[in-house]
Amino acid sequence: MDNKKIVIANWKMKLSLAETSDLAKEMKNKFKGFGGEAAICPNSVSLVGVGKILKGGPVKLGAQNVFWEDKGAYTGEISPSMLVEAGCEYVIVGHSERRKYLLENYSMIHKELKAVLNIEGLTPIVCIGEDTVERKTDRRDFVLVNQLQEALGGINLMGDQQVIIAYEPIWAIGSGTAIEPTEAEYAHKIIKIALNDMFGMRVVKNNFRVIYGGSISSKNVKEFSGLEGVDGLLVGGASLDAEEFYKIAKAILK
Ligand code: PGA
Repeated sequence: MDNKKIVIANWKMKLSLAETSDLAKEMKNKFKGFGGEAAICPNSVSLVGVGKILKGGPVKLGAQNVFWEDKGAYTGEISPSMLVEAGCEYVIVGHSERRKYLLENYSMIHKELKAVLNIEGLTPIVCIGEDTVERKTDRRDFVLVNQLQEALGGINLMGDQQVIIAYEPIWAIGSGTAIEPTEAEYAHKIIKIALNDMFGMRVVKNNFRVIYGGSISSKNVKEFSGLEGVDGLLVGGASLDAEEFYKIAKAILK
């Protein structure tokens, strides 16, 4: 498979249910004729409704979170098969905001990832990235490799099963300042080398994409579009406006 670039919107907890469905409708229209792969991840309560809106259109549905069991007494949680039933094709796993506020850790992320890969039709977007202190103390490469090993160690991918790794430096998320493009290129190289070590080059080429996230906007996206090893983007704030998100999506395809 020739890995296509992908752009994913993370709407976090930023829109009401009414705003969510209005924006989903706008996105569906705006992306008519868009040649690439695009997905939006609304809040959990809106998944079923947005799934119906997006059905048959160019934009796919993703969730922001998932639990590692498929059924049982797990109050408040949502299983991978429920997400598929709602129409999801993607799910974000281990976003740094969940690691910070909900104390999600990489052993939980590992279990979530395994559960997602057990279900047909759901592609995980696994988030990794260093924080400010790790950046300042030059531990980034070590942190990234460690996070990958904890999340993906011991996992075998079947056939063309897809995994997306989102490199999101925590200090860049929502800060208005994205990483320097050359630094992103370097980090993506480190990630691909680590994945090659774990899975072999053929699997990495066919089954993995590594995307960047953190303060991407239509203003800075052009600097990221030509970068080697950057297979797409995860966009927060700038994805809350259909025109802005469409501009970003078009630019990264180039
Ligand atoms: P941002 O968020 O684009 O607003 O920095 C990205 C993310 O958290 O995925």
